[in-house]
Amino acid sequence: MMTGRGSWRAAILETIRANDPTRRFKNARDQLRSVPMKGPAFALGLVVLLSSCQIDEPNPIPPPGSSTPKDHLSQLGIFQGPLAALTPAPGVIPYDINVPLYSDGAQKRRFMILPPTQRLAAPVDDTTDRWVIPAGTYFVKNFFFPNDARDQTKGIHLVETRFLVRTAEGYLASTYLWNTDQTDAIVSGGNVDVPVQWIDEQGVQHAQSFHVPGTSYCQDCHDQRALGIRTRQMDLAGAFSDGSTNQIDFLMAEGVLDARPPAGVTLSDPTGTGPMDGRARSYLDANCAHCHAERGLASGTRLYLDYEHTDPSSLASLAICRQVPAVAGRDRVIVPGHPEQSEFLARMESPDPFVRMPLGPIRIPDGAGIAVLSEWVTAMSPAGCP
Ligand code: HEC
Ligand code: HEC
Repeated sequence: MMTGRGSWRAAILETIRANDPTRRFKNARDQLRSVPMKGPAFALGLVVLLSSCQIDEPNPIPPPGSSTPKDHLSQLGIFQGPLAALTPAPGVIPYDINVPLYSDGAQKRRFMILPPTQRLAAPVDDTTDRWVIPAGTYFVKNFFFPNDARDQTKGIHLVETRFLVRTAEGYLASTYLWNTDQTDAIVSGGNVDVPVQWIDEQGVQHAQSFHVPGTSYCQDCHDQRALGIRTRQMDLAGAFSDGSTNQIDFLMAEGVLDARPPAGVTLSDPTGTGPMDGRARSYLDANCAHCHAERGLASGTRLYLDYEHTDPSSLASLAICRQVPAVAGRDRVIVPGHPEQSEFLARMESPDPFVRMPLGPIRIPDGAGIAVLSEWVTAMSPAGCP
């Protein structure tokens, strides 16, 4: 198996190097999914891939209940009042999740819209925690930066508003880019770098590029799934408008969710105060497991990073001491007790977009996430690899 894995990995890197790194998602996916492990077939795959590069066309979506796509966010009727205030129109339900995906410091505000008379359905057994989404459901995710995270009155700067619309077959994906005046957002194919400036909680000034992925990359993570609509992410404590203190109670009271899902894992804030093991595994589940799991773009690596597969006592799936081609001189995925020798952390720190994990649109390594995972590796015992 090692040879096979080695050759497709090399294949992906070859393909990546022959292309713009931002195109690597699609290529890696096609490689993993369709290309047999042997030479000639693989070469054929590569030719097909190289000729299949395209610019992503904007993919406007219709307002809920309509079939006429609209180019402007303001025409979708999802928000009322000044658009940038993101005040939901009646029937548009705000929601939040336990552990947001790290996106170069961007913050998100999320909403969903259900078709009339429909509800989300809780999974019937505990083999999955993914909720069942009826066709016609819209998910809306707004990406923004605070102007000054220390002072809310300074406002926010919206970058993009993403959509996933549930169809009978899967999900339509689209994004709308905000204008500089923040008066509207216009549909885009993505593949754009947006300059952003903001000040963080510590008062540090950031001037960076936020990368909006092309819409053909959305499915590389999503793979026709809503990724946050899972009990582990939605079972969230908070203060809700009806007085509920838990989001699942709130959604059931609102008639959005049909029943209480089976209890299971709940993800915890990676930089919070919970037990460190749970925080580290929550980080991996939220940031890596959409690709690194039995279903996902990186399933071929057999490095599964969902919560269930990252129990340090279940060595088999955790790639402890697994030998891999070296990154920054580190050739074992996880070396217990030694974050500075663990390859997966070298990948997360890497400035090289061909190597960096998570594969995808981010450009700035997540220092806070790397710190939690380093602590987790430090605590693993016995230390070292044979
Ligand atoms: C690097 C992986 C990745 C890529 C690429 C990606 N997403 Fe997501 N997306 C996620 C994850 C993880 C979540 C769940 C966590 C959250 O809501 O922040 C999510 C959530 C969403 C949601 C809220 C509904 C849900 O799935 O929970 C929408 C809408 C969405 N993404 C749209 C898009 C669109 C449109 C694109 C392409 C322009 C895109 N995403 C690209 C990982 C990704
Ligand atoms: C968008 C999909 C995607 C996401 C998200 C992602 N990866 Fe990966 N990962 C891949 C693919 C594809 C490969 C195989 C290609 C390669 O080795 O670069 C890979 C390979 C790896 C490897 C090498 C494994 C081996 O056995 O060779 C490690 C380690 C890794 N990823 C860690 C992570 C970590 C940690 C995260 C989250 C912080 C993450 N990845 C998120 C797609 C992804």
